[in-house]
Amino acid sequence: MSAAIPPILLVGFGKMGGAMLAGWRERGLDSAVAVDPAAPASPGPEVIVVPDAGAILSDFAPAAVVLAVKPQNADASLPLFARYAGSAVFLSIMAGKTVAGMRGLLGEAAIVRAMPNTPAAIRQGITVAFPGPGVTPAQRGLCDTLLQAVGQVAWVEDEGLIDPVTAVSGGGPAYVFLLAELLERAAVEQGIPPDLARLMARQTVAGSGALLAASTDDAAVLRKAVTSPKGTTERALAVLMADEAWPALISRAIAAATARSRELAG
Ligand SMILES: NC(=O)c1ccc[n+]([C@@H]2O[C@H](COP(=O)([O-])OP(=O)(O)OC[C@H]3O[C@@H](n4cnc5c(N)ncnc54)[C@H](OP(=O)(O)O)[C@@H]3O)[C@@H](O)[C@H]2O)c1
Repeated sequence: MSAAIPPILLVGFGKMGGAMLAGWRERGLDSAVAVDPAAPASPGPEVIVVPDAGAILSDFAPAAVVLAVKPQNADASLPLFARYAGSAVFLSIMAGKTVAGMRGLLGEAAIVRAMPNTPAAIRQGITVAFPGPGVTPAQRGLCDTLLQAVGQVAWVEDEGLIDPVTAVSGGGPAYVFLLAELLERAAVEQGIPPDLARLMARQTVAGSGALLAASTDDAAVLRKAVTSPKGTTERALAVLMADEAWPALISRAIAAATARSRELAG
């Protein structure tokens, strides 16, 4: 029986590339070559790790080339993989690298541009992907399978939406972790011992996320279920939900990150 995932060339075997490779292996990976100058240890017999493009055997024929290097390494590294442009689909998870910018480095390649997030490390990510020109339905299906291995996947047909996606779900874990930090700090301010404050903050964020994931209710419904009239939570939410507080701050933060993503685009 053939493997669920055909041969893949992974460029950049760091945090994100490593998480994806682990997900593919769980699903049944035919074979992969991972290119990374740090040459981390191979995670298994079906994966060959090489330090540079020159060390890839000439008969290796990947169905997809997954670009998972930092964006600042793209200009130097992408042209080394242009030889696969006729036969493989390129799947880029690099922040800020547009399809047009990558085509400038790869030629007339079929490129899917995707934005995952760090919960991919535990297969709980959300990736939003955009298919560039010339991506066939089969190539799109393969990219969908590769991304599904680390969480949920959604597709957009407008590349411009990748900027707000970067701001909301790409960076989103950072905002949630900030909430955990601030809850912990506020608990200590109210006299709770630091160890207990840390436990409460972490488990509140983690447990609320799990409840949200397990529920079909809107977040607002789950919020209201915690909020009794004239109670303690209502008092806190009156502070947080004042016009100038979270509603305005979150809008401004997301607008700022979206604008920065547009500035970085190239
Ligand atoms: N982390 C996130 O939240 C997130 C979310 C969405 C998208 N992304 C995107 O995912 C990409 C990877 O991010 P990451 O957090 O996984 O970074 P990372 O851990 O630094 O991984 C990048 C890896 O690529 C290696 N590398 C550098 N130059 C290379 C080359 N020329 N050829 C092959 N490999 C090379 C790096 O090695 P060295 O360490 O030796 O340089 C490193 O192991 C980035 O483009 C980022 O924009 C990240």
